[in-house]
Amino acid sequence: MEKKIIKSVVTVCQRQALTDEEKQLIDMAVEATTHSYAPYSKFNVGAAVRLKNGKTLIGCNQENAAFGICICGERTALFAAGAQYPDIPIESIAIAARNSNGLLHEPVTPCGSCRQAMIETEKRSRCKLNILLYGTAFIYKIEGVNNLMPLSFTEEQM
Ligand code: THU
Repeated sequence: MEKKIIKSVVTVCQRQALTDEEKQLIDMAVEATTHSYAPYSKFNVGAAVRLKNGKTLIGCNQENAAFGICICGERTALFAAGAQYPDIPIESIAIAARNSNGLLHEPVTPCGSCRQAMIETEKRSRCKLNILLYGTAFIYKIEGVNNLMPLSFTEEQM
């Protein structure tokens, strides 16, 4: 039997260490939390993506009384970009969230479904996705979805 150690590299940083473009994307994700429709969970998630052509788009979670059709903020942003700019690579995504106490202190970490959607985004974009997870105390900067979701499922396995 062999134990394999799988490493993920995550940069922990403060806002001032980010580029102006990264700061702007985080600000957009924070703003997008205020657009969220989350009357059931009262957990408001905002996301913002930057495309290779410089365009930025936001998304936020959209809930429904039929819980199964709720969609996360991250996928709302990624799919909006896919719909509006199908041929333009997505380079970065910033994510922020707030609960009844306000913006999360520690960075919000995306659910497995959104990580899976990010894997496909990288594949379509043919470039690593720069992921910024916002918390008021610190920010996680993650270069490439493999650092967020190792051992992921991809079409190569089929
Ligand atoms: N949610 C997101 O928008 N992104 C995630 O990565 C995790 C969860 C949303 C879904 C639902 O509207 C609420 O947060 C509570 O799960």
